[in-house]
Amino acid sequence: MTENKTNSPVDPVRSDRVAPDRVDGRMKVTGGAKYFADFELPNMAYCVIVGSEIGRGSITSLDTKKARNAPGVLGVFTHENMPSIPGWDAPVGDKADGPPPKPDTLEKYRILNSPKILFDGQPIAIVVADSYERATYAASLVKATYTKQAARTDLDKHLAEGIAPDRSEDYMRGKADGYRTAPVTLEANYTIPVEVHNPMELHGILAHWTDANTLMIYAKTQGVNATQQTIAQAFKLDPNNIRVHTEFMGGGFGMGLRTWPQETAVVAIAKKVDRPVKLVVTRSQMFQLVGHRPCTVQTIQMGADTNGKLVGIAHAATAETASYEDFTEATVNMTKFLYDCPNVSTRYRIVRLDRGVPIWMRGPGEATGAFALESAMDEMAYKLGIDPIEFRLRNYTETDPEHNRPYSSKYLREAYQRGAEAIGWSNRQNQPGSQQEDGWLTGYGMSTGTFNAFRWEASARVLLNADGSLRVQSAVTDIGPGTGTALTVIAHNVLGVPLDRIKVEYGDTSLPKAPTQGGSAIVSAVGSAVFDVCTLIKNELVKLAIKDGGPFAGRKADELTLSDGILSIEKEPGKKVAVTDLMKSNNLTVIDKKGDSKGGPDLQKYSIYSFSVHFVKVRVNPLTGVVRVANAVSVADSGRIVSPKTAASQMIGGVTGGIGMALTEEAVIDHRFGRFVNNNLGDYHVAVHADVPAIETIMIDKPDPHINPMGAKGMGEIALIGFAPAVANAVFNATGKRVRDLPITPDKLL
Ligand code: MOS
Repeated sequence: MTENKTNSPVDPVRSDRVAPDRVDGRMKVTGGAKYFADFELPNMAYCVIVGSEIGRGSITSLDTKKARNAPGVLGVFTHENMPSIPGWDAPVGDKADGPPPKPDTLEKYRILNSPKILFDGQPIAIVVADSYERATYAASLVKATYTKQAARTDLDKHLAEGIAPDRSEDYMRGKADGYRTAPVTLEANYTIPVEVHNPMELHGILAHWTDANTLMIYAKTQGVNATQQTIAQAFKLDPNNIRVHTEFMGGGFGMGLRTWPQETAVVAIAKKVDRPVKLVVTRSQMFQLVGHRPCTVQTIQMGADTNGKLVGIAHAATAETASYEDFTEATVNMTKFLYDCPNVSTRYRIVRLDRGVPIWMRGPGEATGAFALESAMDEMAYKLGIDPIEFRLRNYTETDPEHNRPYSSKYLREAYQRGAEAIGWSNRQNQPGSQQEDGWLTGYGMSTGTFNAFRWEASARVLLNADGSLRVQSAVTDIGPGTGTALTVIAHNVLGVPLDRIKVEYGDTSLPKAPTQGGSAIVSAVGSAVFDVCTLIKNELVKLAIKDGGPFAGRKADELTLSDGILSIEKEPGKKVAVTDLMKSNNLTVIDKKGDSKGGPDLQKYSIYSFSVHFVKVRVNPLTGVVRVANAVSVADSGRIVSPKTAASQMIGGVTGGIGMALTEEAVIDHRFGRFVNNNLGDYHVAVHADVPAIETIMIDKPDPHINPMGAKGMGEIALIGFAPAVANAVFNATGKRVRDLPITPDKLL
């Protein structure tokens, strides 16, 4: 079953379509769901990290004596006494989930392996004690002196130092400067500040060596199998000797897409002190040690003819990375394929600054890129005097101009139309600043979003018990979108087992291997595995039923249907057999199947993307400059929707993140010290309830015939990608002020 057919001839969603509540919702809100830090083990010890107080330089002395003598302290680890990590003796840059090695050009950073300081907050000591409070107190006693150097943290000052990263090539079709020949041109810069994931749940790990070569890990990871691999490499262990458990996560947003150095350090320390050891980083360390959305400066140059046909687009982005690791993301990618345009060029550069390394965050680089491209599309529409939707329709493309191949499915036209109707686009005045309600300026804006829809390899195991109940198993972690619910619906759709008789077990490496939850890929990947394995069980039941004779003797397999635990033949009411009876008569206590699933050649034949359109109505206070999102309508073209309720919630979550990105989120750096100054949830403003209006979600809900048997494309990232430019465009419509520098804070409008 390695290559199943992706062209599913029948719509796999049942006619009695179900839209259940979250299967684990009650557990999550009543304290039954256990997050990594909720696990308590006998004899457990606690780590607290002491961070560097300088942004660049080196440690000259480190006084740990008082800390070591403090009550309950089991150890204080620094670069002078850190236990060795055997797999890290190899050259820097060899990590499974990191960029390619560049030992000659990059600073070396392995936690607690050198007195060098490469960023503010870099761990300089890890204190272990028998309680969290005692570890925190002892950590306050560690004193360091440093030789300081000026930290280079200001991207604007170092833009010229951009280098072409290994994994991003400049792109060109037509002529690089083709836009210049157009009668109407635009050139503008757009900037995104550092944003920090800041899920409610803090990051960390609990590591327990159950014997000399065997590990049990509870962690905040989006991929238990990935953490297992990384730790296995670091400690030169057989991955099978490492079990990683992450069933629930209080928000990931990308920060759990890799294993961070302090997690590996905790595993080493747990071995050294011979106790289970837990680390939960502090909120301020969430800004320093677990990545962020990289500060990015972009330039769009665009030309169009007077009929609104695009002549050329050049899109250049420069983003920060760390001095010790090159992080890259797909910031300029959508410009290559979203519009029909003969001359397109893109360029992506990174600048190595003295900060912890960035990581993908919420709709990652595409969200950053969409802010530039879709703001520029709006600016151009005004220059041309064409409605912004009409401008996009005049440059609509039915095939992917980057790869010269068809899209697997694209219903973006319908998305524009349905969203426009729902927001009341016809009420919009094109003249900026011409609409008012109750003394507030109002305006409408819209934007497109797009993201690759993936189908990664995954496996699953499904057990049908003789009592008619079903167990579905996969190692995949649920970072919040409701993976357990979606997998329940998929199993129900194939096997007709009632929802309350299905139990999904997930989030543990003891279960069948799954990819990391990220990139909006899990319903497609793990859902397909569940679909395929459930189909094996269904086929087996049908075969047994026909072989048994009785009402189905001599019938063909495809005549039988399966619903509510009953095999039957449509329109022949007498012909039915209960699955429980069938299994009993065959002396089966369980039907137990396992399998891998991956896509076929269609994945190469088509360009497979999800699309979204966001519509926003804003109110702007002309006296204070405060922007309120009054209405939001988000439309998803993400194939067939498997689980309608959790899909809508996902969209609402993306929009909520989008409101923060548009209006409030910015990690402010004091460049004198290279330090984040608003490193807490009081000063770093994520969108809260008062910022979020009722959000209308619209699902196009048409199956993609090429990606997987459910016809489902991903939908997590597109929920956010394009939202911030829709707000910026609405703010322009309301005020006539074009803000190209996120977030759109009141000072920028006065
Ligand atoms: Mo997501 S940024 O793929 O966790």
